[in-house]
Parts: sequence; C-alpha cells; structure tokens
Amino acid sequence: MPALRDRQSALVEFVVCALLIGLGLALLQALATVPILRAAEPPPAGGAAQGSLPYERFETNDVCAECHGDFARQHEQALMSQCFTHHWDEIEYFELAAPHADALPKVSGVKAGCNGCHAPLAFLAGDIPPQRPAAGTRANEGVSCDLCHAITGFVGEVPFNFNYVVAPGAAKQGPRAGRESPYHEIAVNPFLRSADFCGVCHNEQDPYGVWVKSTHLEWRDGPHGKAGIACQDCHMPPAAALAAAEGESLPDARQHLFHGAHDEGKLRGAAEVRVHPQEVKVARGGQARLLATVVNAKAGHMLPSGSVEERVVWLEVVARDAAGRQWLLPVDPKGFPGEEMTIASAGAMAYQDLGDIKGLDGFAGLKRDGEVPDGCRIFRMPYLDPQGRMTVAQWHTAALGPDYRLAPLRAVNESFTWSVPVDCAPGEVTIVARVWYSRLVSSVAEFMGVPREESQPVLMSEHATRLRVL
Ligand code: HEC
Ligand code: HEC
Ligand code: HEC
Ligand code: HEC
Ligand code: HEC
Repeated sequence: MPALRDRQSALVEFVVCALLIGLGLALLQALATVPILRAAEPPPAGGAAQGSLPYERFETNDVCAECHGDFARQHEQALMSQCFTHHWDEIEYFELAAPHADALPKVSGVKAGCNGCHAPLAFLAGDIPPQRPAAGTRANEGVSCDLCHAITGFVGEVPFNFNYVVAPGAAKQGPRAGRESPYHEIAVNPFLRSADFCGVCHNEQDPYGVWVKSTHLEWRDGPHGKAGIACQDCHMPPAAALAAAEGESLPDARQHLFHGAHDEGKLRGAAEVRVHPQEVKVARGGQARLLATVVNAKAGHMLPSGSVEERVVWLEVVARDAAGRQWLLPVDPKGFPGEEMTIASAGAMAYQDLGDIKGLDGFAGLKRDGEVPDGCRIFRMPYLDPQGRMTVAQWHTAALGPDYRLAPLRAVNESFTWSVPVDCAPGEVTIVARVWYSRLVSSVAEFMGVPREESQPVLMSEHATRLRVL
C-alpha cells in the first residue's frame, strides 16, 4: 500500500511539475512579446548596419532645402557636408587607408569603417568601397540632413564608432514638440539635444583599441560637460529665426553652422596667449626670464581635439631689439616623459609608416614637426604606430604619447630663459608671443599632395611685452 501511495503521489507530483513547467514556458513566451523584454535583439548599429539600408531610403538635401533654405546653405558651407569629397579626406581614404586595409589584416575593417562616419549613406547601402568623389555617387552627400534627422539613438554605453541607430522615412527626428510640417511627420526626440548624438561620430576607437578621437569623452569629463553646455550650444547656437520657410519665427532656432577647425574665425582667439618678463631690466650678456600663459578659453574640449594626429598647435616667442634684430626663443623643458615630442626639432623624423603603406623601400620618414621653428612648444598628443614611431594614420595607432594639449578653461605656463646676446642693441626689446594652428603637419601635406590651405598656419592669438636691455 505505502508503495502504491508513493507511486500515486509521484505521479501527481510529475503532472503538477509538468503543468507548472508548461505554464512557465507559456508565460515566458507571452512576456517575450512585450517589447521591453525583447531588448535582447538591438536594431543594427555600428558595423552591423553595413548594407542594411539602400540609398533610396534617404532623401537628398535638395528636398529639404526647398523649405529649410538657410539651414541648407549653412550646412553646405560646413565640413560635415563635404566629409567624403574634401581633398584630404579623399586622399587619405583612397591613397592610404583603403590600400592599407587590403595589405594589413589587422586594419582591414577600416575600408568599410571610415565610411560609417564620412560617407554614412554609402556605408548603410553597403556601397563599399565607395567610388571616388568624381563619380558623383550618393557617398558624396556625407553627413546629410536626412541622415542626422533619422538618428534615433545609439546602442551600448558609450557613443562611438558610428554606433547610431537610424530610422529613415516619413518622420524626421526633431528636438521640439508642437511643430508641424506640410511635408513630413515629426518624431520629437530629445536625443538630438544631447552631446551623445554628436559622440556617435566624434569618438573613435581604432583596430588597436586606442581612442583616436575622443572629443565627446573630453567634453563629458571637462567643465562644459559637467555644466551641461552641449556641443550644440557652441556649434549650433540659437538665433531668432525661421526654422522653415513656412514655419513660425522661433526665438532660438538652431543654426546649422557646425564650424570648427576649417573656420579661421572659430580658431582665432580660441587659444589666448599673454607674456611677461619676470624682470623688466636686464644687462647684455645676462639672462631674461619670460613667462607665457596659454589658455583654452573657448573650446568645450581639448585643443586640438578630433583629428589630433594631424594638428599642430604651437607657441612661438620672438625677441626683437631696438635695432630690429630678432631671436626666436626656445622653450624651457619641463622634464616630463615624452616631452621631446612636444618641442619642435628640425632633425626629428616621423611618419615612416606612410612609406610602408606606399611600398617605398628605405623611406626615412618626414619631418615630424613640418615647418614649426626649432625650439617652439607644441601642444599635441602624439599618435604612435605599432613600432613606436609617430604617425598620422589614426587607424594604425597602437599607443598614445603624453597628452600635452590645452584643456578647456585651463591655462598652461611656459617659461623661456633668454641669454641676452652681448651685441643686442641697448634699449627696448619687444617680446612677441604667438599661438599658431595648422590643420595638417606641413611635411605630410607636401608629401601627400594636399593643397596648401590644409597646412597653412592660422594665427590664433598674439601678445607683446617689453623689457629694457642695459
Ligand atoms: C550633424 C547632424 C545634423 C545635420 C547634418 C543636420 N541637422 Fe538639423 N539638427 C540637428 C540637431 C542636433 C538639431 C537640434 C539641435 C538642438 O535643438 O539642440 C537639429 C535641428 C534642426 C531643425 C529644428 C531647428 C530648431 O531650432 O527647432 C531643423 C528644421 C533642422 N535641423 C533641419 C535640418 C536640415 C534641413 C538639414 C540639412 C540642410 C539639417 N537639419 C542637417 C542635427 C543635424
Ligand atoms: C514642404 C516644406 C518642407 C520640406 C520639403 C521639409 N520640411 Fe522639415 N519642416 C517644415 C516645416 C514647416 C517645419 C516646422 C518648422 C517650425 O514650425 O518651426 C519643419 C520642421 C522640421 C524639423 C524640426 C522638427 C522639430 O522638432 O522642431 C526637422 C528636423 C525637419 N523639418 C527636417 C527636414 C528634413 C531632414 C527635410 C528633408 C528630408 C525636410 N525637413 C523637408 C517644412 C518642410
Ligand atoms: C564652449 C563651446 C564649445 C563646446 C561646448 C564644444 N565645442 Fe567644439 N569647438 C569649440 C571651439 C572654440 C573650437 C575651435 C578650436 C578648436 O579647434 O578646438 C571647436 C572645435 C571643434 C572641432 C574641431 C577640433 C579640431 O581641433 O580639429 C570639433 C570636431 C568639435 N569642436 C566638435 C565638438 C563636439 C562634438 C562637442 C561636444 C561633445 C563640442 N565640440 C563642444 C567650442 C566648443
Ligand atoms: C554621422 C557622423 C557624424 C555626426 C552624427 C556628427 N558629426 Fe561632426 N563630423 C563628422 C565628420 C566625418 C567630420 C569630419 C569632416 C571633415 O572631413 O573634416 C565632422 C566634423 C565636424 C566639425 C569640424 C568642422 C570643421 O570646420 O573642421 C564640427 C565642429 C562638428 N563635426 C560638429 C558636430 C556636432 C556639434 C555634432 C552633433 C550635433 C556632430 N558634429 C555630429 C561626422 C559626424
Ligand atoms: C567614428 C567616426 C569616424 C571614423 C570611423 C573615421 N573618421 Fe575621419 N573624422 C571623423 C571626425 C568626427 C572628424 C573631424 C575631427 C576634427 O574636426 O578634428 C574626422 C576627420 C578626418 C580627417 C581630417 C579632415 C580635416 O581636414 O580635418 C580625415 C582626413 C579623415 N577623418 C579620414 C578618415 C579615414 C581615412 C578614416 C578611416 C581610417 C576615418 N577618417 C575614420 C570621424 C570619423
């Protein structure tokens, strides 16, 4: 009897268990249809989005320009509309990155990847590699109106490497509630007001896992990020204007200026410099000590930021005596590791990997500092290739040197000890300090045939002081 009862209860237990499991599975299945629990499968973003959307899914800027004329003209003048067609972008992708991707498996991903930010329509259409700009394909549209206004968010924790999610179509993502358009729907999306929106392309990690672009991260960790002053506040400032021809006038319509390093006006004054002598009188043959203070007072991130591997920002201090003779004063070293890369030296060579990529035997490299005069302080962060040589190939960067750039809302002091020549004319000596900005180190520009405008130094700031030579 007890044995039978055991068997009976075992049977009951089995049936109950089976029912419970069945119920549980059914419940799980039911729950899985609730969208929030299905998040396990994110929409394609980043590399996974390659080839997911044909070109036709995006409208051209010409369509938007019919009603948003001012924004269209502003955008046309900004580099984000030219980021596939601009000369240096074309040269670097087609003559360096794409061939390098074919030759070196480690960097093979950049053949498609560069386009995730520079030719997003081509990337999403799977048109890889895109044809050269002269072919006139839709790759040329760069970061277009409809691309940005299709971005709904990003996947992951940090915005970087084009991990944006796009939903092109009838509804344009917009920042404001309560607006109407006769042409399209508006999907109100606060994401467009966030710096993360810009970060999807303004942070980049290369195949070696190095952060080769971190404008958004610099901003986030700096005083502007902490104060909630977004990229849009400086690069898309609000003005009383119409956002669309048939719209209402807005007190704060976001201007689509996107001006950066290709706008001299934006660069001028972005770094400030002041200089003073520690003693106002000095004897010939004696030593004058000068202190120059350089401030990044206007950028909400490091200066330079973004394409840091190519930029040269330097401080030049010149003394001119009463007779008009001039001396360029070398900066006093501070003694930190890697400092030699931040002081211009005509003898220093770098960029040897350009020769490897181009298959040049015995290529000795190019002048590391281009035309920067010897002894000037350079505010930079060196990018180092796997052999530890400085490189402008951001995709081939295995390590970074010391970060000696100008941090937002901070000043840097540089001292100059000048041994006043015995033949210096007695009387007033004028000391002039200047900060220069060059978008591309001149030696690389010349070697790669990039037009001079890209390396032409822009004067950011200038200040003069005096001392008396006895
Ligand atoms: C790089 C991405 C980007 C591109 C390219 C871009 N926009 Fe925008 N646009 C934005 C962002 C971000 C905002 C919202 C800014 C804010 O409110 O902080 C915006 C706002 C707008 C607004 C609303 C303005 C307001 O203040 O209410 C209109 C209209 C607009 N964009 C149209 C266009 C058109 C037309 C183009 C092409 C000519 C274009 N956008 C190109 C990112 C972009
Ligand atoms: C036939 C005219 C017309 C065309 C074409 C047009 N828009 Fe608009 N759009 C408007 C009007 C009108 C508004 C409302 C503006 C307002 O009231 O401030 C608007 C608003 C917007 C907004 C702002 C939404 C917000 O939240 O404030 C965005 C973004 C936008 N358009 C993007 C685009 C893009 C991208 C294109 C091209 C693919 C485009 N529009 C084409 C007329 C047009
Ligand atoms: C407080 C104003 C301010 C804020 C906030 C700001 N910027 Fe800038 N940005 C500037 C100024 C000024 C420059 C020109 C000087 C320079 O090149 O750094 C600049 C330059 C740039 C450049 C060119 C950098 C270079 O040296 O090549 C990029 C790209 C850029 N900003 C993107 C962004 C992005 C993305 C954000 C948000 C994460 C942002 N900015 C936030 C003021 C700002
Ligand atoms: C889809 C990718 C993408 C997004 C999103 C994006 N950018 Fe850019 N941005 C680029 C690329 C690519 C360039 C490089 C242009 C070039 O070729 O020099 C660039 C360049 C710039 C520059 C430098 C212009 C110059 O004069 O050199 C500024 C400033 C800038 N972006 C601001 C912004 C801001 C602000 C946002 C967010 C509202 C934003 N970007 C969002 C891809 C993007
Ligand atoms: C994650 C997005 C992203 C990827 C991927 C990317 N870039 Fe860029 N690129 C940018 C942004 C943003 C800028 C603008 C930075 C600035 O203004 O300082 C830029 C600037 C440049 C510039 C400088 C243009 C100039 O004169 O200021 C060149 C050239 C360039 N990229 C080429 C490439 C190549 C080649 C690749 C692939 C190896 C690549 N980029 C990959 C976002 C990207």
